[in-house]
Amino acid sequence: MTNSLDVEWVRARLPGRRLEYLATTSSTMMDAEALAREGCAGGTVVVAEEQTTGRGRLGRSWHSESGAGLYASIVLRLPLPVSHLPLVTLALGLATVEAIALATGLGCDLRWPNDVLVGNRKCAGILVEAHDDALVAGIGINMNHERFPEPVRDVATSLKLATGRAQSRERLLVALLEAIDRKTALLVEAGTGVILGEFTRASSYVHGRRVMVEDGARRLTGSTEGLDASGFLILRTDDGARALILSGGVRPLEA
Ligand code: BTN
Repeated sequence: MTNSLDVEWVRARLPGRRLEYLATTSSTMMDAEALAREGCAGGTVVVAEEQTTGRGRLGRSWHSESGAGLYASIVLRLPLPVSHLPLVTLALGLATVEAIALATGLGCDLRWPNDVLVGNRKCAGILVEAHDDALVAGIGINMNHERFPEPVRDVATSLKLATGRAQSRERLLVALLEAIDRKTALLVEAGTGVILGEFTRASSYVHGRRVMVEDGARRLTGSTEGLDASGFLILRTDDGARALILSGGVRPLEA
């Protein structure tokens, strides 16, 4: 039996922010999108105890066990062109890693573009969607899960499994929203180079990593060679060509 999120504790630490809490929903992405279309303020966040059809990238689902994870979607209204959307995704990954470190002491890796890893296992993921003049950023963090179902059993972990103790979802939610404010402000004010540099330093996947990439119908293998100015991944394929990965799933290969 898990406790419900202490929403009032969180609201008390985030004065002025609209925080909608739902015991259950299909996906917080849909709830936040509806609020964005109604014209809600930037920073508005929807948090759910469970999602019945949590969504991941590339049409995947997001395992959303009740009370075990942090399932949040945040409406962002940033003065940035839509071409900066990949950079926003990278900034949100950095924010998630920073928040996890602050709230739990755990150091995480980032796998381009949006996977937060402990070792080789995924503990959090980020999904960014554009809706008219707003972005909706969905963040799922596996917090106190003790096990995972197929098909993610062998590739997922939780902060509890990684640290050996239950973690406070409230503390992490506050740290996450504050870190998102900091990283998106950095992107807007300091420009893309700072986020590209931070991501490159924080991720073991950006340089010299043997990977397999599934990008639509393409399946490529090669070694990573950095990020381009838009935040896309540069891959030197095994036949010597240079490929720019715009989206898709990146998986590690043996060196
Ligand atoms: C991914 O790694 O594929 C992205 C996962 C994003 C999951 C979060 S949980 C909160 C929000 N609501 C959803 O349905 N998805 C995102």
